[in-house]
Parts: sequence; C-alpha cells; structure tokens
Amino acid sequence: MFWKISTGLLVVIAIGLFAFTRTIDVTPGIIIHSLFGGGGGTPSQQTVQSRLKTPEGFSVGLYASNVVNARVIMFTRSGDLLVAQPRQSKVSILVRDADGDGKTDGQRVLLDYLYRPTSMDFFEDYLYVSESNAVGRIAFDHESGETIGEYERIITGLGDEGNHWTKTIRFGPDGLLYLSSGSTCNVCNETDDQRAAITRYNADGSGEERFATGLRNAVGFDWAPFDNQIYATDNGRDLLGDDFPPCELNKVEQGKFYGWPNVNGFGDLDPDFGDESRLDEATSPVHGFRPHNAPLGIRFIDLAAFPDEYQDSALTALHGSWNRSSYDGYKVVSLHHNSDGSFEEKDFLTGFEKDGNIIGRPADVTGGPDDCAYISDDYGMAIYRVCFGIEQDDIAAISASVIQKTGLEGFDTATLLELQSDGQQLFRTRGCLGCHVVSPEDARFGLRLLKSINSRYTLDSLSAFFKTPTPPMPPVRLNEEDQLALSAYLLSIE
Ligand code: HEC
Repeated sequence: MFWKISTGLLVVIAIGLFAFTRTIDVTPGIIIHSLFGGGGGTPSQQTVQSRLKTPEGFSVGLYASNVVNARVIMFTRSGDLLVAQPRQSKVSILVRDADGDGKTDGQRVLLDYLYRPTSMDFFEDYLYVSESNAVGRIAFDHESGETIGEYERIITGLGDEGNHWTKTIRFGPDGLLYLSSGSTCNVCNETDDQRAAITRYNADGSGEERFATGLRNAVGFDWAPFDNQIYATDNGRDLLGDDFPPCELNKVEQGKFYGWPNVNGFGDLDPDFGDESRLDEATSPVHGFRPHNAPLGIRFIDLAAFPDEYQDSALTALHGSWNRSSYDGYKVVSLHHNSDGSFEEKDFLTGFEKDGNIIGRPADVTGGPDDCAYISDDYGMAIYRVCFGIEQDDIAAISASVIQKTGLEGFDTATLLELQSDGQQLFRTRGCLGCHVVSPEDARFGLRLLKSINSRYTLDSLSAFFKTPTPPMPPVRLNEEDQLALSAYLLSIE
C-alpha cells in the first residue's frame, strides 16, 4: 500500500517536474538540486580556471573538492575552515593550508549526527551550531581543531516545517546571539511568529526576543563595519513571473517590519496577501538584487590585500534562479556602499553558469587569514579561494613538453583551456563516467582509470582511437569538434 502511494506520488512529482521544465528553459537537475540538494561534482582545476572569472588583478583557485553540500563556512582562530553540511548532518573541518599550496591539507568530520546543521559561530570558548530546529554549543580548542566535552542544545523546538528550514546564527558586537529563520511557505500568513524573522537570545539561549519581522528568508546577515548595523540578504517570493519581485538587501533594525508577505520590494503590495494598512510600516530594502537571484551568504570583508574599493564592501553569494525562464544569478557579487545609504553591485566571481550549463552554485563567502576570500558551492561541492595580486595554480596544466609531443602546439593557451573545459563537460555528459574515472580517489570496482594518456597517445592517435576504439570499449559517436575537446582534456590528465 505504502509502496503504491509513494510510487504514485513519485510519478506525479516526475510528471510535474517534466511539465514545469517543459514550460521554462531550466534543466530538471537544478530544480532537483533546489528541492533535495545533491550536486554536480567538483569541477576540475582546469574548468575552474577557464570558466570562473574575477575582476582584474584577482585569481581563483580550488581550495577543496568533494565537500558534499558545502553551505556556511567559517574560519577558526587558527585558520582551519569549518563547513556546515546540512544534508550530511555534519560540520566538517578543512585543515589549514600549512604547506602553502593553496589547498586544504585535509578534510575531516568535526560534528556528526546533527539535525540539518546550517550555520555556526564562535563565542568565547564555544562553537555554536544552528540545526534546523535547535541551537547547540560545544567547547572548542582552536589550536588542535578539536571539540571538548559534550554537545549541548541550548535552544530547542524551533519550527522547521515547510520551506526555508535553514537557521542562520551569528553573534553580534553586543554579545547576543542572532538567529534568522525563513518562512514556511512561498507566501502566507505564518502562525509561528519566529518564522520569517530574526530573533535574538543571550549567549546561553535565554531571553528570546523578536528582533525584526517580515523577512521571507534572510539566509545571510552581517554587521557592517561603517555603521555597525545588520545587513541581511532576503529572497523575494516566487510565482510572480521572471522579473518581479527583487531579492533584497535589508538594513535590519530592531522592531522593524520588512514587508513579507504583504509588501514586496520597494513598496509594492503583494497581489495575494497585499495589505494597504502595512504599507507605511514596511521598511524597503537598501538594495534590490535581480529577481530570483537568491542571495545567500553575505560578509563584509576586511582583507588588507584587497584594493581600496573593496574595503568595507560586502561579498554576497547569489545561489542562482531555479524557477525563472532563463538562468540568472550563479555568481558572487561585491556590494559597495554609497554615502546616501544605497549600494552598488559589481560582479566578483562569475562563470558558474554558461549558456545553461551549470558547474556551481555559490552558497557562502568568508575572508581567510591569508587575505583571500573563500566561497562555498553546494552544487560543485567545492570551496574556492579568490586572492588579489597573486597567481594561483596557473593551469598551463599541460606542460610545454606534453603540448609538443602530443601535437597540441597549434593552440594558444586560452583556446587550450577552453577546449579542456569543454572536453571535461563532454566526458561527464557523454557516458564516459559510466566506465571510467580520471582520479585514483574515485576508482571503484569495474571503473577503468584513465591516466598518463599523454604518454601513450597524441592528438592524432587519440582521434584514431575514438573512430575505432579497442573492444571492449564501445564505439563513441563524436563530431570533430567534440573529439578535439575530449582529446585536449584527456591529454591534460596527469
Ligand atoms: C562501456 C564502457 C565504456 C565507455 C562508456 C567508455 N569506455 Fe573508454 N574504455 C573502455 C574500456 C573497457 C577500455 C579499455 C580498452 C582496452 O583494453 O584497450 C577503454 C579505453 C579507453 C581509452 C584508452 C585508455 C588507455 O589507457 O589506453 C580512452 C582514451 C577511453 N577509453 C576514453 C573514453 C571516452 C572519452 C569515453 C566517453 C566518450 C569512453 N571511453 C567511454 C570502456 C568504456
């Protein structure tokens, strides 16, 4: 019986998803990711280098791979990076980069068996963690990167039904614990007034006080260095078309109401829940992000190595649209405040989406002890590192000698990088992964490891191989262009 119901339900969901994705030009993968998590696998160093773009003078590197469901990130006082992985029930620790190669020195689980842990912060000797229905704390030794004693839940019974169940916590300069909780729904009147609000507590969990309301899903917030006020991202509601309402940056002040569900964006009454009597009361955002961009983590950065114009700016992760007829967002932006209180938004890290092909969805941003910015990606399962004034992992990954001996010398570096990146995508999308892996860590029974291809093949002999692969490798149908891209990719593998 149960089986029948769940199968029926799955069929309905499948048909729904199919119908939905037919009407808009978005792949089911992104919708499934939005609803259930999961991810697309970490892009290679080559893909990161060729696809992701930074402003002039910055460079991007891959700090950590295969960090499943990487969401909120935060450095310890010793430079280890904590990562909340809500769908893994874990908080992991990425060991500090002691050897200075721009990569974490290892990954291990710090806390396990939590209930959808979504964020954390340090206060005094404790590491605080928000779960979807609770806040807990445990003593933490920054030097060893180990917890001490037992994890204790100090706030329990937080509502986490429906949508937007994540809780974000942060300690304010006042030593109070601020907690943001999203709405249960796209648009509705809440019965639990802790939802769609920011609440604050004493550090021991006592003294609950509603701080601000009408915030549909303020996933990220931080205190600005220039006015000590809270600035919070907020995701605008869905189902009012591609271009309305904007997502928001709100300056969140005590006792204020920020509009949801009655007023959208800059004073527009909601078509379903509009309430004229609340118009005056509703505080408008200080900045509108493009609709459906889904701003999540935000941090004001204080990185000495960054150019002046970035001092006091806020980096913000735009997770990207999932219910818009074309993709939008999928990048990290910097927000620069003007003297009149408004903000200017500039691209900081782009290229996660290209012609509908998606390699990542930024989730959170933080500044590192090495003066670089770190960005988590819960789709690419990765942590990126963006630095100013230094080169990172310049991926002329194919050495000059390999380029020469394999016949790739006819291509300039930029073209080669592009080809490699396209080739990697083809490798993923054309069924090769059904039988092959490219890194020994992924090797599982029955999968053949492709390695040192460049010591045995050239561009020409690889093309010949693809035309008539040696059985049991099945024939593959590839046009010239795809063959070239795949070859450039395979020849670049160590
Ligand atoms: C059904 C399984 C299967 C699929 C799918 C498959 N391969 Fe293979 N592939 C093999 C096997 C088995 C071999 C080893 C053949 C041999 O023993 O020479 C092989 C060999 C190769 C080799 C030569 C490796 C070497 O070390 O000499 C390359 C290159 C290669 N495959 C690339 C690809 C690419 C690119 C794709 C996707 C377009 C692909 N394969 C899809 C099974 C597969």
